[in-house]
Amino acid sequence: MKFVALAACDPQGVIGNEGTLPWHYPEELAHFRASTWGHVMLMGYSTYLSMPERAFKGRISIVFTRKRQVRKCENIFQVSGLEELEHLFEKNPLLREKTHWVIGGAEIFHLFFSRGLIQSAVMTYLKKSYEGDTFFPLHYLKNWSQEVVRETADFLIVRHTVL
Ligand SMILES: NC(=O)c1ccc[n+]([C@@H]2O[C@H](COP(=O)([O-])OP(=O)(O)OC[C@H]3O[C@@H](n4cnc5c(N)ncnc54)[C@H](OP(=O)(O)O)[C@@H]3O)[C@@H](O)[C@H]2O)c1
Repeated sequence: MKFVALAACDPQGVIGNEGTLPWHYPEELAHFRASTWGHVMLMGYSTYLSMPERAFKGRISIVFTRKRQVRKCENIFQVSGLEELEHLFEKNPLLREKTHWVIGGAEIFHLFFSRGLIQSAVMTYLKKSYEGDTFFPLHYLKNWSQEVVRETADFLIVRHTVL
C-alpha cells in the first residue's frame, strides 16, 4: 500500500490552530482538492471535524477514532487503528487501487511516519508565519529528496521522496 502525506505548513511547521486552519488560500485548497479527488483521504477525528461537508465529496474518507462515531455515509469509513485499516482494505479491494493521501492532523502524520508507512510527501510551504498549536513533524522529512512542483507568491509546493 502506498501512503502519501499531504499537508500545508508555515515556516515553523504550523498546520493548525484551535482545531482549524489558521489561513485561507483558495489556490492551496484547489491543489488539495485536485490531488485528493477520486482517491482516498486518511485523517484523524479532529481533522474530520474541522472539514466542511463539501470537502468529502468525490473522495473516499477514512477517519481514525478510538471512541467516536462518524456520520454514516457511503464514502466515509471509520477505523480504530492500523489493524482495522488493514481489515478495511482486505474487505474492499477497490480501495486498494487508489492513491492513499494521509491528510493529517499531527497525530495521524506521526502515526504513519513513525511506522515507516509513508514513502512520499507533497508539502505546501507557506511563506508567511502564523500562530498555531499543531505542527507537522518536519523531522521525518530530513534527508528525503525534494522536488519543487510549483511556486506562487504565497507558497511553494514540494514533493519529498524517501531515499
Ligand atoms: N495544514 C494542514 O495541512 C492540516 C491538515 C490536517 C489537519 N490540520 C489541522 O490540524 C489540527 C488537527 O490535528 P490533531 O493532531 O489535533 O488531530 P488529528 O490527528 O486530526 O486527530 C486526532 C484524533 O484522531 C484519533 N486518533 C489518533 N491516533 C489514533 C490511532 N492510532 N488510532 C485511532 N484513532 C486515532 C483520535 O480520535 P478519538 O479521540 O476520537 O479517538 C484523536 O483524538 C486542526 O487544527 C486541523 O485544522 C491541518
